[in-house]
Amino acid sequence: MSREKPVGTVAAVDWSRYETDALRAFDSARDDSALSEANVAYLGRKSALKQALREVRDRHAGVLLNGIRARLEAASRAAAERLAREQASRREDADGFDPTLPGDRIPRGHLHVLTQIRREAEDILVGLGYEIVDSREVETAWHNFDALNQPLNHPSRSPRETFYVDDGRETLLRAHTSTGQIRVMESREPPVYVAVPGRVYRRDTPSPTSTPVFHQVECLAVDRGITLADLKGTMEHFFRELFGPGREFRMRTSFFPFTEPSVEFDVTCFLCDARGCPVCKYSGWIEMGGAGVVDPAVFENVGYDPDEWSGFAWGLGLDRIALLRHGLPDIRMFWENDLRLLRQF
Ligand code: PHE
Repeated sequence: MSREKPVGTVAAVDWSRYETDALRAFDSARDDSALSEANVAYLGRKSALKQALREVRDRHAGVLLNGIRARLEAASRAAAERLAREQASRREDADGFDPTLPGDRIPRGHLHVLTQIRREAEDILVGLGYEIVDSREVETAWHNFDALNQPLNHPSRSPRETFYVDDGRETLLRAHTSTGQIRVMESREPPVYVAVPGRVYRRDTPSPTSTPVFHQVECLAVDRGITLADLKGTMEHFFRELFGPGREFRMRTSFFPFTEPSVEFDVTCFLCDARGCPVCKYSGWIEMGGAGVVDPAVFENVGYDPDEWSGFAWGLGLDRIALLRHGLPDIRMFWENDLRLLRQF
């Protein structure tokens, strides 16, 4: 490009024609390459307009040319938007499907919080060498009471406490997973190391702390020379794994017809860290379940020789653990299946 004959001098161009041609080019551009050609021709670095703008010396020419530039740039942008819209609608028209739109989010489910806790408990026990056993929920009164040494006049045998499924009170919904102890011992010879998780049923009025159906895990060890010390060590390990090292564990003497001696066990309250709160009734401790050394009478009921074998058993409620661990106010919430609650775990 020579200095003597500049192409874009202000006077050398019919600017109104330039603008009309340019606007027509932008409006009629059918695709991106036509638009980019028009951009190069009318707004590019070497276009007559840009060259003339570089040489502007007086105000009149500056106003004229800058006005044209602003209008042409607007027309170019409008053309680009029009082309983008046309392309999008062509895509949809092609098969009614726009692959650039985000897909539907399919919500993913997860395990119920009680199932999660049950599996954690199972994992800990499997790690200790216990076998997880599934036992039946519809049971005989013999497995639920008699074999466990429950006296005939015990109030828990009343139909006000237990769900019988027959009028003769021989068949019932198990009231505890201790029935699993009997089932296992009936069917195999010692040594036995089993854990029986599952649903249990009691005629309790639903309340913030109880429901007629809840979950327990029963643990039974039968071998030679097993003592209360083995029970304590096992439970301490179990609770440390389940709740972390911050919790303490204690045993209190108690009574169950199928264990002797019998204990109930507590862990330090996880809500107040044993300082005292309404949940632990200001004692700092939360009751977790029952345990003991298997009563020789139970061994006799299942045909084990009590002089050769000894064992311990414990049972604990899982719903309670879930409730306390998550600081929930009402155990019935686990049965409502409100997704707003369940999604949090
Ligand atoms: N079965 C008892 C209950 O449900 C708990 C327990 C289990 C106690 C094993 C001692 C031994 O309350």
